[in-house]
Amino acid sequence: MYIDVVFNPCEFQSRDPRGKSIAVIDVLRATTSIMYAFWGYRDNFSAELLGCEKIIPVETIEEAIELSHSYANGEAVLTGERFCLKPKEFDIGNSPNTYTPELLSGKTIVYTTTNGTRALQQARQGIFVTTSAFVNATKSAEVLFEKKNDVIILCAGRSNKTTIEDSLCAGLMVSLLVGICASNNIEYKISDSADIAMSYYQNNKEDIKGLLLKSEAGQNLLEVGLEADIEDCTKVDYLPFATKFEDGVLTLIE
Ligand code: MLT
Repeated sequence: MYIDVVFNPCEFQSRDPRGKSIAVIDVLRATTSIMYAFWGYRDNFSAELLGCEKIIPVETIEEAIELSHSYANGEAVLTGERFCLKPKEFDIGNSPNTYTPELLSGKTIVYTTTNGTRALQQARQGIFVTTSAFVNATKSAEVLFEKKNDVIILCAGRSNKTTIEDSLCAGLMVSLLVGICASNNIEYKISDSADIAMSYYQNNKEDIKGLLLKSEAGQNLLEVGLEADIEDCTKVDYLPFATKFEDGVLTLIE
């Protein structure tokens, strides 16, 4: 298994995604919020899933509004952000703690965010596409291993730039995949960027929250009073579920 990391969407052009599994990471907050949306945000963990049924990520606000209108009243929930905040026409923003069972249970989410949903569209060139974050890292690595394809971990970044939080989580994903391959006697090779990401994670794993707080995205969330979101995004393996992105729709893998 060849494990590669793409630190930002610009770099993706230099890779050949055909036949590969692609894991999209946008820790603050898209790929984290996606997991909370499927779970249905509650105070205490219980494996019972009370969240949405599926998520349709789209790139623009206009597309999202138009698509949501094609659903019967109350069937779809329009969610996402621009500049960290809920666009005025939307039902909810992108804070994990707003993805509650009361608002989402059994519904379809039409979703657009600044960077995360764009990266997902890029990833569609892969043979299998999933979403990863600290909250579901181990489960996500297990699913990637089971697929047996070479892996590209695609960081959504910010405005095509590399970010602390996605690089750190990419490093965790590489560490987990390497560990799973080794314990199953499966040969693996990692790219230089995967090696860099893994070292970055290994050197900083005791202070994930501190790094997220100092990241540019973290600073932006603090400025608009969303510090609680950072805490929700740092909970490693809190939500042991994995997603698949097929035909433009995100669902949970059973
Ligand atoms: C993104 O897609 O850029 C992020 O999810 C931004 C955010 O949640 O504020």
